[in-house]
Amino acid sequence: MNSVSDFDQVRQAFMTDVITGLHQAQKTIPCKWFYDETGSALFEDITKTPEYYPTRVETALLGSITPALSEIIPNLGAIIEPGSGASIKTRLLLETQPNLTTYLPIDISAEFLNTTAERLRLDFPDIDIWPMVGDFSTTFLPDQIGADIEKLVFFPGSTIGNFNPDEALGLLRNFHALAGQRGWLLIGVDTTQDADQLHAAYNDKAGITARFNKNLLVRANRELDADFDLTQFRHDARYNPSESRIEMHLVSACEQQVTIDDERFDFVAGESIFTESCHKYARDRFLAMAATSGWQLEQLWQDPVESGFTLMLFRSR
Ligand SMILES: C[S@@+](CC[C@H](N)C(=O)[O-])C[C@H]1O[C@@H](n2cnc3c(N)ncnc32)[C@H](O)[C@@H]1O
Repeated sequence: MNSVSDFDQVRQAFMTDVITGLHQAQKTIPCKWFYDETGSALFEDITKTPEYYPTRVETALLGSITPALSEIIPNLGAIIEPGSGASIKTRLLLETQPNLTTYLPIDISAEFLNTTAERLRLDFPDIDIWPMVGDFSTTFLPDQIGADIEKLVFFPGSTIGNFNPDEALGLLRNFHALAGQRGWLLIGVDTTQDADQLHAAYNDKAGITARFNKNLLVRANRELDADFDLTQFRHDARYNPSESRIEMHLVSACEQQVTIDDERFDFVAGESIFTESCHKYARDRFLAMAATSGWQLEQLWQDPVESGFTLMLFRSR
């Protein structure tokens, strides 16, 4: 459980991001705030929808490469996973890498992370499970993991796509520091460019992505004492081909005012809050970004059938 002061700090950071974001010309709220306990559970539901190919494709790819991985990194001792969520794909690695002693999941969604860690401890009693609650863009490794242990940063789910290219470069550099010398990075990158497939994936017929998006307003109403009228905002996910990204918005259905912490924000009809980007980096562009951040490509595996989803394994230079 979080302590009260943790909760107050998180609430204050959420408040600052929401107030700052809603003052911008294009109103925005950073996507990391999607993930309270409900948001994390809704994301898991999204991954089970038929339209959401990234999880299905990446899990199949991962299952097929675990023998190769243990040959390439026979002495892999620790896995660090920023944005670990339910750690479902990670189980494929925990089950198969012979010398693994430590797993460090890092996530902003505290309750969900701790519940997941408890389950993993039961299922993998021989592996030390050390959950770390926090923002992975600023997290440093605890001293307990010695420099001599070979480490892999595992970053699946195309979470890297939620960052614009400059931020993604910063993250790749941070992961390089986390992995240390002789470290590794296994990352899932969605290189799909098919606009129809992308549109379907972020506008599932069951409406779960819409609930996930709107949960941001539910959370703001609960934690920030905001008064968003949920019936007057609708989910919108559009593909922007010039930026190669899906953009998620919450669109105001009418002219309206919202009050947060005694501040009033005006919306005209059709005005939106930009809530998430999912960049679909072309393969060569991503490889160049990784190289700039100190990573050397070891191997990549691409989905041959359904999409351009790619798992890339890098070693630190
Ligand atoms: C797209 S989901 C991916 C979950 C999982 N890794 C997968 O592949 O299915 C992103 C995950 O990262 C976490 N997350 C997002 N932004 C974060 C941040 N800045 N710091 C820590 N965790 C973050 C979310 O809570 C969520 O669990």
